[in-house]
Amino acid sequence: MPMNIAIDGPVGAGKSSIADAVAERLGILHLDTGAMYRAVALYMLRRGIDPQDEAAVSAACEGAGVAVRYEDGRQRTLLCGEDVTDALRTGEVSAAASAVSKWPAVRARMVRAQRELAGTADMLIDGRDIGTNVLTDAPVKIYLTATAEERARRRCLQLREKGTDTPYEQVLRELNARDEQDMRRKTDPLRQAEDAVLVDSTGMTPEQVVERIARIVEDVYGR
Ligand code: DC
Repeated sequence: MPMNIAIDGPVGAGKSSIADAVAERLGILHLDTGAMYRAVALYMLRRGIDPQDEAAVSAACEGAGVAVRYEDGRQRTLLCGEDVTDALRTGEVSAAASAVSKWPAVRARMVRAQRELAGTADMLIDGRDIGTNVLTDAPVKIYLTATAEERARRRCLQLREKGTDTPYEQVLRELNARDEQDMRRKTDPLRQAEDAVLVDSTGMTPEQVVERIARIVEDVYGR
């Protein structure tokens, strides 16, 4: 059985960068499932399909072939064979990803692909429903969160580093809107699995969070 570690949590909890660091430390792959929903969102945007239109998205998602591959241990996300990794981080794609991920037809396709991938290699998988739905038997489940204010502050810093200054109030508002959409959707909403360990990273450095999660994994897997 491959080693499977599930990390779920809200937007801006630092899941991606923390998961990257923990996976590297353990010498396993990191599957960022959010990137897969982002690729579906990009597909809809490119075709002018409204991400909020369930019927249109559900019909069109049949054509959205999403795959991942690894280059030097780093995930690249493919849409119909095209590497779209660098096009997935815009605000427009973020909002559309949160919307398309509400629809059961989209989720069914992504969940199937994620289960297949998780069966092929030792992986740390991050998302919203990994511990509660995709891999309910994962031996290690982490729920990584932080207060909305702290997550918005971190996001502002990240955006500033990228050269896009966005007002804190706007970032906080968008973050709360995505939290709301991710937690309130009917199909597999974001929530902490009963057997997940809660890691609240408010006030912790990234190094401390990585250390804490690596310890939790070591306790279970002995490495
Ligand atoms: O982690 P992220 O911000 O890249 O995720 C983008 C969107 O995809 C997010 O708003 C919720 C959705 N998502 C999901 O519903 N289930 C997952 N396992 C991962 C992401």
